Amino acid sequence: MAGFKILLTVSIILSIVNANRTVFINPNDPWQAFEGWGTSLCWWANVLGGVPDVRNYSADLVFDLNKGLGLNVIRYNIGGGENPLHHHMRLGNDVPGFLPCEACDYNWTSDANQRWILFAARERGANIFEAFSNSPPYWMTISNCSSGGYQSANNLNPNYFDAFAKYLTDVVKWYSIQGLTFRTLEPFNEPSGDHFWQEYGRQEGCSYSCAEMNIIIKKVGVYLKDKGLSNKTSISAVDENIFDQEVSTIECIDNNAKSYVSQYNTHAYGGNQRPELLNISKQDGKKLWMSEVGLMVSREPSDMSTSIILSEKILNDMRNLKPAAWIYWQAIEDMEYAYDWGLIGVNFSNSTSPLNIRLAFYGFAQYTKFIRPGYQIIYSNDNDTLSAYHASNQTLVIVCTNKNNISEVWSLDVSMFNVGSFTAFRTSSNNETLTKLPNTWNITNSTLTYLSPANSITTWVFSSTIPKNNSADGMKAYL
Ligand SMILES: *[C@@H]1O[C@H](CO)[C@@H](O)[C@H](O)[C@H]1NC(C)=O
Ligand SMILES: *[C@@H]1O[C@H](CO)[C@@H](O)[C@H](O)[C@H]1NC(C)=O
Ligand SMILES: *[C@@H]1O[C@H](CO)[C@@H](O)[C@H](O)[C@H]1NC(C)=O
Ligand SMILES: *[C@@H]1O[C@H](CO)[C@@H](O)[C@H](O)[C@H]1NC(C)=O
Ligand SMILES: *[C@@H]1O[C@H](CO)[C@@H](O)[C@H](O)[C@H]1NC(C)=O
Ligand SMILES: *[C@@H]1O[C@H](CO)[C@@H](O)[C@H](O)[C@H]1NC(C)=O
Ligand SMILES: *[C@@H]1O[C@H](CO)[C@@H](O)[C@H](O)[C@H]1NC(C)=O
Ligand SMILES: *[C@@H]1O[C@H](CO)[C@@H](O)[C@H](O)[C@H]1NC(C)=O
Ligand SMILES: *[C@@H]1O[C@H](CO)[C@@H](O)[C@H](O)[C@H]1NC(C)=O
Ligand SMILES: *[C@@H]1O[C@H](CO)[C@@H](O)[C@H](O)[C@H]1NC(C)=O
Ligand SMILES: *[C@@H]1O[C@H](CO)[C@@H](O)[C@H](O)[C@H]1NC(C)=O
Ligand SMILES: *[C@@H]1O[C@H](CO)[C@@H](O)[C@H](O)[C@H]1NC(C)=O
Repeated sequence: MAGFKILLTVSIILSIVNANRTVFINPNDPWQAFEGWGTSLCWWANVLGGVPDVRNYSADLVFDLNKGLGLNVIRYNIGGGENPLHHHMRLGNDVPGFLPCEACDYNWTSDANQRWILFAARERGANIFEAFSNSPPYWMTISNCSSGGYQSANNLNPNYFDAFAKYLTDVVKWYSIQGLTFRTLEPFNEPSGDHFWQEYGRQEGCSYSCAEMNIIIKKVGVYLKDKGLSNKTSISAVDENIFDQEVSTIECIDNNAKSYVSQYNTHAYGGNQRPELLNISKQDGKKLWMSEVGLMVSREPSDMSTSIILSEKILNDMRNLKPAAWIYWQAIEDMEYAYDWGLIGVNFSNSTSPLNIRLAFYGFAQYTKFIRPGYQIIYSNDNDTLSAYHASNQTLVIVCTNKNNISEVWSLDVSMFNVGSFTAFRTSSNNETLTKLPNTWNITNSTLTYLSPANSITTWVFSSTIPKNNSADGMKAYL
């Protein structure tokens, strides 16, 4: 009876298949060397790092590879600190600074919550750290407010260019004495987002002209050198909101400023100049990161829509921008509104409210748990596929996304490899949350064929797998 039911189901599913496809992967066409998946800390860490009952579990879910996503790239926000007479920041967004006034001493007990999460991340395996600024301290700004200028005007008072560069590098130096090295320091966040950063806003932000960015980059570079940090910390820039703005801002950074910059960071909220940006980073010899994107996450336990959108963003970036790291904005967010950015939702104002793990958390995990730092991203012909190989571990990973509302027959051509054992994991609307699939497939004629359910992400992990020597042959069918 059971067997009959399965056969019937399979034939019904096959009869409605509308698009079968063959995925070809090629280790002889290596793309980027991958160094990790990440998240920014800021708001969520500023809140949850102060809640003892919740913070360990949060850190486990976000940073621990066995208990959660295993994110290893961390963006720590050096708060500017807001005007104490102002009260317009959203709960959590008022990240404390370390220098409350011009004549004050540094207060290194400040920002304890975000710092707790920072070190908890490292204890759970995070190994790449960047520090970034959203705004200078309010007293260095023209508006006397760290959320931005009047009508989004450029907001760092020119009298404090030097003080701002000193401030950022003093904080990096202090952390280095505490034993935590920031590999990169980013002085800006969406600096040309000229409608984003306004006084009396809900979060820190600051607009800069390109001329100002050139001055600040050089000052920060010189301070890093003078403080003996330049052999461990270099500058990343410029974290524009969209690819096309990133391209045009980089074009106006001068060569002297660029000599202090080791890495270009771009956000992925829009634009389409991914290939141009990749080319510029190669020409300039800079590492490239997709350093921020977030999306509105569905709270419905079986709604795959966010996982599919997230996956398509990852695929478009990883395939066409080819960043060395891909960093989500806020892994955890406040459930203040009907929608939020969090892969995990929580109520910031109620420390006993439970963490709400969304299906998109598992959708992201389909990538983060398997394509690890040290993997080489390799060619795949299919735009809904990301493939990566780890030579010394002899592990091949293929992540396949069926974004369509109908099941498809997928054929994975692994003819360029001598394949060992393999396992598969899936997230779908059908109660699968990174669920390990029963091993019922065989590879015939170097091809693994399976039925991919509608709106699902499947990750294939091939162990003891090495590239074949006679490499060129298998590719012919696809040229
Ligand atoms: C997809 O593959 C199945 C199984 O091989 C076959 O029955 C079906 O006709 C194919 N559909 C298309 C559109 O090629
Ligand atoms: C800026 O804010 C500080 C602290 O609230 C206040 O003492 C100072 O007078 C303000 N400066 C100006 C120019 O408004
Ligand atoms: C330093 O910051 C801590 C934490 O915010 C605060 O409790 C303390 O009062 C500050 N110290 C000074 C001297 O302002
Ligand atoms: C909570 O996390 C901190 C920081 O990683 C760690 O030192 C501590 O042992 C953890 N506590 C528990 C109960 O696991
Ligand atoms: C970096 O510079 C510091 C101070 O100049 C020195 O102590 C340290 O050994 C250097 N580290 C490396 C890796 O060169
Ligand atoms: C990027 O560079 C490659 C190789 O130099 C070139 O073929 C390609 O046209 C460039 N693409 C863009 C978008 O500039
Ligand atoms: C906080 O959350 C807990 C657990 O969900 C709930 O029982 C409690 O009523 C909430 N408190 C407030 C003030 O909303
Ligand atoms: C795959 O993506 C590339 C680059 O964006 C695009 O040129 C191509 O048309 C896409 N192929 C399909 C089948 O959508
Ligand atoms: C490679 O395999 C070793 C041993 O199993 C493991 O400790 C390590 O994390 C693996 N590295 C990667 C990048 O998967
Ligand atoms: C998912 O599992 C729950 C609880 O086991 C069950 O009630 C529900 O019907 C399942 N949904 C689907 C789509 O299988
Ligand atoms: C795979 O091969 C095994 C052993 O030959 C066989 O029992 C099984 O039915 C095959 N599975 C499929 C899906 O063809
Ligand atoms: C085996 O796969 C190749 C493409 O890799 C194809 O040309 C050939 O027809 C296949 N052979 C069989 C028996 O399916």
